[in-house]
Amino acid sequence: MKGVILAGGLGTRLYPLTKITNKHLLPIYDRPMIYYPIEALVKAGITDIMIVTGGKKSGDFLSLLGNGSDFGLKHLNYTYQKGEGGIAEALGLCKHWVGDDSVCVVLGDNIIEWNIARAVRNFEEQGQGAKIMLHEVHDPERFGVAELHGDKVVSIEEKPKSPRSNKAVIGIYLYDRRVFDVIRTLEPSDRGELEITDVNNWYITDGSMTYEVLEGWWTDAGTFDSLLKASQLVAQGGANKTS
Ligand code: DAU
Repeated sequence: MKGVILAGGLGTRLYPLTKITNKHLLPIYDRPMIYYPIEALVKAGITDIMIVTGGKKSGDFLSLLGNGSDFGLKHLNYTYQKGEGGIAEALGLCKHWVGDDSVCVVLGDNIIEWNIARAVRNFEEQGQGAKIMLHEVHDPERFGVAELHGDKVVSIEEKPKSPRSNKAVIGIYLYDRRVFDVIRTLEPSDRGELEITDVNNWYITDGSMTYEVLEGWWTDAGTFDSLLKASQLVAQGGANKTS
């Protein structure tokens, strides 16, 4: 399985912190934000990794990470997204590199307490389709929100005004190779982006979407409040822990 980390976008919600650097190079407690999704993949046994960068400071990723030796890697791959066309657009840039493999996608600003090795194993056993991870939140209107019927996800709404549940879809997704064909069919949303929620809804309609509820804490780090919260959570006990 390949791993893709999405670290493009302009980080405008964190302006002026992101005026002269990329959001994913900002600190979360004692390390740059991008370290956490890389560690999440490596701890799940995924060592073939592509980082999608963007913005004016993309060269700094190479200076910081090189070939990934801080993570025990021999090699890291990089590509570049022009502008901010959405999470699905950024993933689409990895089509040729992923090839016929399956892929684990991690948003560069998502940080988790416990590593995702078991979910990755379960998806490998599932063999095809997709898997998302859900987490209960008190502010679901900020996220993709899942509606569940029994053990099935029946729909996901992106940032709904009246959420149908408090289960946010976190920014870690597992897909089979069909994901790139799905991305090709997408139209930009009202916010002008190719939405990962549209990809996930395709797999729901296909009947091949599964989900797991993530244990421990999870946070994004794309707003001032969540950036602070992420540092506090990591300082209290670390991220990507092995149980
Ligand atoms: O954090 C989880 C949430 O992430 C999900 O619940 C939502 O369904 C999903 O749409 C996404 O929501 P956000 O609006 O918070 O995503 P944001 O625009 O902040 O982008 C998250 C990361 O994705 C960002 O750190 C870098 C990457 N990204 C984003 C965009 C828009 C790219 O690489 N390229 C892009 O064009």
